[in-house]
Amino acid sequence: MPTSQPEVLISAEEIQARVVELAAQISSDYADHGELILIGVLKGAFIFLADLSRNLTIPRQIEFIAVSSYEHGSIRSGAVRLVLDVRESIEGRHVLIVEDIVDTGHTLHYLINMLKSRNPASVRTCTLVRKEHSAEVDVSVDYLVFNVGYEWSVGYGLDFAEHDRTLTYIGIVQPDDQ
Ligand code: IMP
Ligand code: MG
Repeated sequence: MPTSQPEVLISAEEIQARVVELAAQISSDYADHGELILIGVLKGAFIFLADLSRNLTIPRQIEFIAVSSYEHGSIRSGAVRLVLDVRESIEGRHVLIVEDIVDTGHTLHYLINMLKSRNPASVRTCTLVRKEHSAEVDVSVDYLVFNVGYEWSVGYGLDFAEHDRTLTYIGIVQPDDQ
């Protein structure tokens, strides 16, 4: 259990300002595209999706999806499994995947391919944070809020072993907290 508050990496004010900016950009890009389906990836994207969706000015619908990464001991294999699917058909619809963090890129890569196979009108991606130096697969992030380093980020939906998801800021967990 963490013993101290994580160090602030991105303040709550900075996050809110960027989310408002990004929502304006998305609203402008999707104007005249009909209804946008925002697909949030549980659990990490729930707070980001809540704030982003409330700042959009275009017609939108909210769906959720959940995935799990296969692990061999403590080693992540890169293989991803779907554990919760969207309830509606996305055929012919404009889809925006909303993720918390892109690390190796395997999760987002899997989701893009899986959703594209259902013949939507378009699939784009929006992620709160990207660890740009950790990429193992090349995935396109269309809307990005922040780039971060290698450290483990928590807060604003992101967790460390289910802790610190509800912090209003994005922080870094120090090794001695873990
Ligand atoms: P991927 O490596 O891009 O497939 O990312 C897989 C998942 O790992 C993300 O969706 C997060 O749930 C989790 N993850 C990776 N890095 C962090 C981090 O720094 N903080 C919290 N979760 C992370
Ligand atoms: Mg995630």
